Amino acid sequence: MNNIKTALIYGSDTGITELVVSLITKELAIELDIIEVFTIKPEDFDRYDKIIIGVPTWYDGDLQSDWEDFFPDFKKIDFTGKEVCFFGLGDQYGYPDNFVDGIGILAKVVLENGGEVFGHWPNKGYEFNESLGLMNDDLFYGLVIDEDNQQDQTDQRIKKWVKQIKNKLIDL
Ligand SMILES: Cc1cc2nc3c(=O)[nH]c(=O)nc-3n(C[C@H](O)[C@H](O)[C@H](O)COP(=O)(O)O)c2cc1C
Repeated sequence: MNNIKTALIYGSDTGITELVVSLITKELAIELDIIEVFTIKPEDFDRYDKIIIGVPTWYDGDLQSDWEDFFPDFKKIDFTGKEVCFFGLGDQYGYPDNFVDGIGILAKVVLENGGEVFGHWPNKGYEFNESLGLMNDDLFYGLVIDEDNQQDQTDQRIKKWVKQIKNKLIDL
């Protein structure tokens, strides 16, 4: 049976993350609430124990503008008992010193506030200098998509990641 307590929450300035949301939800094919972060209130998080977060990085290591606006509230959320996974959009050649920083900025808050982060993703196949999105030498906190430079890899990355996270999101 599908778990209906799952939300996918995202922000998107120029629509690329929104496009990736539609690819991920199609591949996931489970019941979930899709919410743009500018419409959400902190208490809305109470309704979900599993959350997928989509965030592009902007302006040299900043969160996308709606996530930036929500960030003070995000930091106050108690993530105890919640399982959260991330996907991040970035441009590895344009911003090699801040590649997908956004997923790291948000993932650290989830961990500090008692949540579990799942859906880690290998950093092989990307070229960059630094990223707050890295949780260790080998793994990003979540799926990394670079539509600016590696569009041709997006579909297969999504397929692989969805396979990896799907069991956590459904009641078996
Ligand atoms: C002005 C500008 C600043 C950006 N800054 C970063 C950055 O610091 N790090 C990064 O990885 N990508 C950066 N990017 C790339 C975006 O994250 C990428 O294009 C993303 O797909 C945009 O997603 P959206 O359309 O959902 O907002 C930047 C793009 C622009 C145009």
